[in-house]
Amino acid sequence: MCGIVGYIGDKNAQEIIVGGLSKLEYRGYDSAGIAALTANGLTYEKAKGRLAVLEERLKDHPLTGTVGIGHTRWATHGKPSDENSHPHTDEKLQFAVVHNGIIENFLSIKEELISKGYNFTSETDTEVIAHLLADMYDGDLVGTVRRAVAKMRGAYALGIMSSHEPDKLIAVRLASPLIVGVGNGESFIGSDIPAMLEHTRDVHILNEGEMAVLTRDGVELFSAETGEKVERALFHVDWDLVQAEKGGFDSFMLKEISEQPQSVRDTMGARIDSETKQIVMPELKMSNEQLSAYDRIYIVACGTSMHAGLVGKDVIEKLTRVPVEVAVASEFRYRDPIYTDNTLMIVISQSGETADTLAALREAKKSGVTVMAVTNVVGSSVSREADEVIFTWAGPEIAVASTKAYTSQVVALYLFALYFAQVKGTQTAEQVAEIVDHMLDLPEAISEILADSAKIRDFANSIKDVNSLFFIGRSLDYAASLEGSLKLKEISYIHSEAYAAGELKHGTLALIEEGVPVIALATQPDIYEKMVSNIVEVKARGARVLGFAVESDNELIKSVDEVIHIPATLPILTPVLTAIPLQLLAYHASVARGLDVDKPRNLAKSVTVE
Ligand code: G6P
Repeated sequence: MCGIVGYIGDKNAQEIIVGGLSKLEYRGYDSAGIAALTANGLTYEKAKGRLAVLEERLKDHPLTGTVGIGHTRWATHGKPSDENSHPHTDEKLQFAVVHNGIIENFLSIKEELISKGYNFTSETDTEVIAHLLADMYDGDLVGTVRRAVAKMRGAYALGIMSSHEPDKLIAVRLASPLIVGVGNGESFIGSDIPAMLEHTRDVHILNEGEMAVLTRDGVELFSAETGEKVERALFHVDWDLVQAEKGGFDSFMLKEISEQPQSVRDTMGARIDSETKQIVMPELKMSNEQLSAYDRIYIVACGTSMHAGLVGKDVIEKLTRVPVEVAVASEFRYRDPIYTDNTLMIVISQSGETADTLAALREAKKSGVTVMAVTNVVGSSVSREADEVIFTWAGPEIAVASTKAYTSQVVALYLFALYFAQVKGTQTAEQVAEIVDHMLDLPEAISEILADSAKIRDFANSIKDVNSLFFIGRSLDYAASLEGSLKLKEISYIHSEAYAAGELKHGTLALIEEGVPVIALATQPDIYEKMVSNIVEVKARGARVLGFAVESDNELIKSVDEVIHIPATLPILTPVLTAIPLQLLAYHASVARGLDVDKPRNLAKSVTVE
């Protein structure tokens, strides 16, 4: 996620803000910027690249002043560039804004402002906020910010300052974290506690829809909607810097697992029309006619991304009846694939830099095939070279084992499958709306699973010394099993295999003996009975079985040792939910074995060699 820092006090704002931004570098970013209120009005400096590039520029043009805001940007709307970096200002330099999150309705606000004569210099959703404030300003900054955010839909954490009221900073949040700190004669804004930890440990963690007005004398909190004052005691932080970077979690992986209600929501973001419950994909450049003509799809990816592709295959085929083949990129690139005029290739890559995936993309393009990328990193090689891009908007992922990026890839593929079905007319508007309704419930369901994870932790502790275990499932549960097994191998180093449950009896069943743990996913109603038969087969040979079932299933417990229930949803959506306990299983097993959860041996986050 991007980083926000703000300062008002009696010290040099630039120094404090650059120092704060450096403490947020761990979050990942591709550009940085800072604005300050000086004797000559509002000035700013921003630069693509590392913070050091910005610091170099500031050496030549230091910003004076004791009030300022700064930002490290991780691109979402628009590539990494000087222009797209934050802060954004209006044309007359009256307002400067830094923003984390996504303004879903920015295009309609932008069009309205353009028709009133405002000129835009960036591709970002954030710039509209600065122009909107200029357009709405009536002499009262707090009131203007409240009326402006009321027009905005989406997720935001904002730091705002204005040359009209130079002794104030405004912080406001909805669905993106934001913290304000109180010091002695100075106040701070930060997207995260490390940004201000050097200066103060007394903070307010803003709640949904709250805004804070910061002055040198302290901080006042309000409801952005009603303007009512909020009284709350300060929270005293006693974490050290390393703990603070992880948001109080003991690893980035656990932090990222816990972020999934938000990351899944962000992936859906503006792609669901909240009234019609249909999918909109304004990012696609191809016409509906072109899209509709595709009658064969290759999905190409590596590792976890390939597993997301397996879920995508199933769903695209179910909803559109277009055949999809999933291939591992390192194999696919050396194949002689059969392309037709109507073949679409989808490459999936969290980092957008995986060498094998990139090579497969290039091979396909050379053959004249249209390539669509599903990626998490704006400006990555894959995103630049693909013909079409669907960004997953999961926010930066730091732990080597991919968690939130995976669930966001799966959700992005659902969105694409639904959109493709809409365009092809293979699903009615009612059918799409029904699936969308269930998708909108996924973040809440993920929160429920996260809140009740004791059983999976206990199971993880119980397998910490086993040599080998199995994951079994059928259809979508098999795809989910493959990812569960990979996660466990990656960070706990316990050998495991995922098997299509019906295939076990053709050899692997010989490995099942007394006490071998088997994790059996049984969430798919159309093959439920067959799955139970497979469970009975392993049980009969002494396996200790942990079953995964949907909430309403009271039967599975009769055939297994223990059951993890997941909240009710449509069968095609269960892989997003079963992923969560499977990630937690790997995490707890790794912790139980005393391993480095975030940096497993021999592995890298982004593999840029063949
Ligand atoms: C590496 C990572 C995996 C990831 C794979 C593909 O092996 O350790 O977690 O799934 O690369 O990465 P990508 O960035 O292309 O999704």
